[in-house]
Amino acid sequence: MKTIIEPFRIKSVEPLHFNTALERSQIIERAFYNPFLIHSEDVIIDLLTDSGTSAMSSKQWAGLMQGDESYACSPSFYHFENTVRRITGMEYIIPTHQGRAAENILFTLLGGKDKTVLSNTLFDTTRANIEFTGARGIDLPCPEGKIPSKPSAFKGNIDLDALQAHIKTIGPEKIPMVIMTVTNNSNGGQPVSMENIRNASLLCKQFQIPFFIDACRFAENCYFIKIREKAYATYSIEEIAREMFSYADGCTMSAKKDAFANIGGFLAMQNPDLAQKCRNLLVITEGFPTYGGLAGRDLEAIAIGLEEVLDEHYLQYRIRSIEYLAQKLMDQNIPIMQPAGGHAVYLDAKAFLPHIPVDQYPGQSLVCALYIEGGIRSVEIGSLMFGTYEVHSTSKVLIPAKLELVRLAIPRRVYTQSHIDYVAEVIIEVWNKRNTLTGYAITEEAPLLRHFTAKLKPI
Ligand code: F0G
Repeated sequence: MKTIIEPFRIKSVEPLHFNTALERSQIIERAFYNPFLIHSEDVIIDLLTDSGTSAMSSKQWAGLMQGDESYACSPSFYHFENTVRRITGMEYIIPTHQGRAAENILFTLLGGKDKTVLSNTLFDTTRANIEFTGARGIDLPCPEGKIPSKPSAFKGNIDLDALQAHIKTIGPEKIPMVIMTVTNNSNGGQPVSMENIRNASLLCKQFQIPFFIDACRFAENCYFIKIREKAYATYSIEEIAREMFSYADGCTMSAKKDAFANIGGFLAMQNPDLAQKCRNLLVITEGFPTYGGLAGRDLEAIAIGLEEVLDEHYLQYRIRSIEYLAQKLMDQNIPIMQPAGGHAVYLDAKAFLPHIPVDQYPGQSLVCALYIEGGIRSVEIGSLMFGTYEVHSTSKVLIPAKLELVRLAIPRRVYTQSHIDYVAEVIIEVWNKRNTLTGYAITEEAPLLRHFTAKLKPI
C-alpha cells in the first residue's frame, strides 16, 4: 500500500521557536517542573494536549466571517444545532463554552451527596465536576485496559460484569448516570466497541439509569469501530456515529477535540425536562440558550468542523499518524500503551523508569526529560494527575493511580511526518539515558485538579 499522506495542504504557517537544552533546563526549573507552567513560545513541539489546538480548515476560517452575532436565535446557532442533531440524533442541543461547562451543568443537576457516577474511565474534569457536588465517580475499565503492554482491539471498554455488580450493590436509585468516555482518554485513548456501548446501554435501561456518552473523540472512536468491529466495515462514519448515539440518553462534548474548534462544547439529550433544567442553569452561567457561552462565529466553526471530521480519508490519516509514532517506539522496545490510541501515544512510565518509585512520580520525571532533551511538551497521566492521599495523624501516604502514563497528544492537522520523526528521535535519546533520570517531589498543590498548578522539585 502507498504511504497514507496528510489529506490537506498547508496555506498558513506558524514558526516554531528553538532553544537549547541548557536553556530548557533553566526554563523547566522556573516552571517548577510542571509543563503547564512553561510558556508555549519555549516549547518546540507541543504535545500537551489535542484540545483546542487543531488547525482549522479554510472553510472553518471562512465560517468565522459568516458567523452571525445576534444575541438570540442566530442562523449560526441553527446551523450548529442541525449538524449536532443530525450526527447524534439527539433532540435537545445546548451549546456551552467548552466540555467541562457541559459537565458542570449536568452534574450540578444530577450529582450530590450519596450519588455515584459509574464510567469506563472518567476524564479528570468530569471526575472533578462530579466530586465537587459531593458525589463520587467510579472507573470500571475492562481488565485488558489495565495492562499497557497487552494489545487488544477495544481496551477502552467498560467492564460489564463490574458495572452490573456495582449497580446492584450501590442501588440504581443512587446512580444518576453511567457515562461512557469515547475514546477512553485517561486509559490510553483506547476505543470502546459498539457491542460494549450497546450492552452497557441495555444494562442501564434495565435499571432505569440514564446512559450518557462523553463524546469528545467520537469520530476517532467510530473509525476504530469501522476497522476493528467486523459488522461495521461497510458503514460510513456518520452511520456508525448515529448508531452509537442512539444507545445513549444524552452526551457531553468538547468541540475542542473532534470538532476542530479552538473553543466550544455542548450538551445533547433526549429528555425535555432535563434539557429545560439544563437551559435554566445555562442562562445564569453560560448565556442565552442559542449561544451558551460562544460567539456566533464559534458555532459556525464547530458546525463545519463536525462535518469535516466524518471524512474517512482524514480519520485514516489521523489514526495512522498516531500508529506511526507508536511503531517507531515499539521498534526500539520502548514501553507504550498498546495498541496506539486515537489521539495520542502513551508511554508507560512505570516500565520506562522502573527505578523510580510511584511516589516519586516517574511520569513527571519522563515529562521533564522529554522537554529538556528536545523541547517536547507532554503530560503525565498518572499519580500526579489522579493520585490521592491516605491521611494519618502525622503523615500522608500516596494512593497511586492505576497506571503511570505520559501522554503525547497529537494536535489535529498541525504537525507533519518529520515533526513526528523528530519526536520519536527525542524519545529514543531519553530511553537510551533512562538510568540517569531521577524522581520528583511535590512542594505545592491545589486540592482539586492539582496537576495543572502543582510545583515540584527533583529529588
Ligand atoms: N472529557 C474528556 C474525555 C476530555 O478529554 C476532556 C478534555 C473533557 C471532557 C473536558 O473538555 O477541555 O473542553 O472542558 N480534555 C483535554 C485533554 C483538556 O487534554 O485531554 P474541555
